[in-house]
Amino acid sequence: MRPPDLNLNPLTFNMEIFNVYPLLDLEPVKAKGAYVYCQDGKRYLDFYGGHAVISIGHSHPHYVNKISDQLQNIGFYSNSVQNPLQKIFANKLGEISGYEDYQVFFSNSGAESVENALKMASFHNGKSKVISFDKAFHGRTSNALSVTDNEKYQAPINQDNEVIFIDFNDLAGLDRELSKGDVCAVVIEPIQGIGGIRVFDDVFLQQASQLCREHNAVLICDEIQSGAGRTGKFFAHQHAEIKPDIITIAKGMGNGFPFAATLLSPDFEPWYGQLGSTFGGNHLACTAATAVLEVIEDEQLIHNANEVGKYFKQQLSRLPQIKEVRGRGLMIGVEFPFPIKKLRQRLIEEEQVVTGVSSNPNVLRLLPPLNISKKETDQFINAMQNALKQHQLLQ
Ligand SMILES: Cc1ncc(COP(=O)(O)O)c(C=O)c1O
Repeated sequence: MRPPDLNLNPLTFNMEIFNVYPLLDLEPVKAKGAYVYCQDGKRYLDFYGGHAVISIGHSHPHYVNKISDQLQNIGFYSNSVQNPLQKIFANKLGEISGYEDYQVFFSNSGAESVENALKMASFHNGKSKVISFDKAFHGRTSNALSVTDNEKYQAPINQDNEVIFIDFNDLAGLDRELSKGDVCAVVIEPIQGIGGIRVFDDVFLQQASQLCREHNAVLICDEIQSGAGRTGKFFAHQHAEIKPDIITIAKGMGNGFPFAATLLSPDFEPWYGQLGSTFGGNHLACTAATAVLEVIEDEQLIHNANEVGKYFKQQLSRLPQIKEVRGRGLMIGVEFPFPIKKLRQRLIEEEQVVTGVSSNPNVLRLLPPLNISKKETDQFINAMQNALKQHQLLQ
């Protein structure tokens, strides 16, 4: 048998990783709950969850056991056979989210679920113009990228879609565009994540939902970052008590296992071949996502996100040098009157705390696991106080 290639000669085997990510100087080798343990022997408090993915905490025992047991039986078969695990997930999701009457289509990443949502909207009403919002982020596949407000990411091949970007919370602008009658879909992150944790007004969402109905446009809520209980409701749009036609989910729904889905109202009638995916909804993915739902339910994590989120936001707003604290539940943005790059670096290097960034250079994005305790948020506040003190001294 061939021995494992552990000591490759870098001069002989020199395939490069395509260099598109600026990397933090961290090499996690183990993770548990709200902590990651790195190669340097240090323990880091994780308030970022690897781009908003860790919902029930790293390596939750129920999640690890369920996936391990499933792998002993069958890890994968394609969507050409019966897979009751899909129905088990769908039933549980319907029950917890209140969307029992919706249908689910499985995929593997957030961008795919947005791609499928836009495609289904266009199949549904035969139109193609889409409305999105300034600072929106919906992913990097072609349609998802076209509704993402960042020209830098668009190659010429991505630029043919007809998309209109409207200002945040601009109801008059939305009304004006929808009134033209040619809009296929409106796609909204109820709380923008990468855009800097910007919360759409409930009234705006309610009016947008109403206008979409009036003008035969499909309302798509992108809950990839804000869903799975993160904001203190199962979906962030539920704070506004609206019911979109399509909902996209990914990230926290799999807690790290690649899992995504598009939820469609009963108005959408599927036909064979309309959508498809080799890996989507496979045995391991459904097991992982069902385990996440079970933990969310058993440990009352939506309630915890609400309670701890409120407490944490209060504590954060008492810190010095802060311009604004915003967000809902445990999806929180902290805006400073200065760029946070150095502060974030200091938090990692000196306080062993990991946080996230956004497209706004002054905003720190905080997305801890939903089972975080008040004690751990106190630990975070303490670290912030130290880092801010240093920041002031060194300025
Ligand atoms: C709101 C939102 N939509 C879509 C995506 C794309 O998800 P993925 O990276 O899994 O394709 C992201 C990723 O950050 C996101 O935050």
